[in-house]
Amino acid sequence: MAVEIKGKRLVFTREQIADKVSALAQQISQDYQGKNPILIGVLKGAFMFLADLTRHISIPFKIDFVRVASYGAKDYSTGEIKLTKDVELPLKGEHVLIVEDIVDIGYTLRFLLDHIAAKGPKSLKLCALINKLERRKVEIPIDYVGFTLDKGFLVGYGLDFNEMFRCLPEIYELIF
Ligand code: IMP
Ligand code: MG
Repeated sequence: MAVEIKGKRLVFTREQIADKVSALAQQISQDYQGKNPILIGVLKGAFMFLADLTRHISIPFKIDFVRVASYGAKDYSTGEIKLTKDVELPLKGEHVLIVEDIVDIGYTLRFLLDHIAAKGPKSLKLCALINKLERRKVEIPIDYVGFTLDKGFLVGYGLDFNEMFRCLPEIYELIF
């Protein structure tokens, strides 16, 4: 059955996002001084966040991507996660920072943290723009968090609903 969208409510403005992203980038630049980290963006949702974040990081680093798909209903991920694109840079002995748009139930990040850890990085940390708490089932250590909120289905700034709304420059909550 098609889900009806009744409207959307502005949650984070461009300015709020920009301020948060540059603060995160500053912290990351400080913490990874001299470490030449590899930032791994999780496609597709993190593309805009990663692009803005990396333009504010003032130390040398490399970028790579992974893509994961989860199966099941459209507004939440099931436990069944599948890697559809792996990283290409060798990660053994490297300082790795995963960059994700949003942590919700936690299945996606649990899967990715285990997957990347198995490649033997020297360190592994996680940066998420949004930490959404209410539905969390798996404990996820998030080292750098932009915004924390309880619930709500968010779109914009990379986040989509059935591939819609991804390119909005602000973040909205969908009203169903
Ligand atoms: P989870 O933590 O396993 O539930 O999965 C997180 C993934 O589900 C994110 O990477 C998003 O792709 C998607 N997701 C979770 N909550 C939202 C939301 O509010 N808006 C858009 N995508 C979401
Ligand atoms: Mg995602």
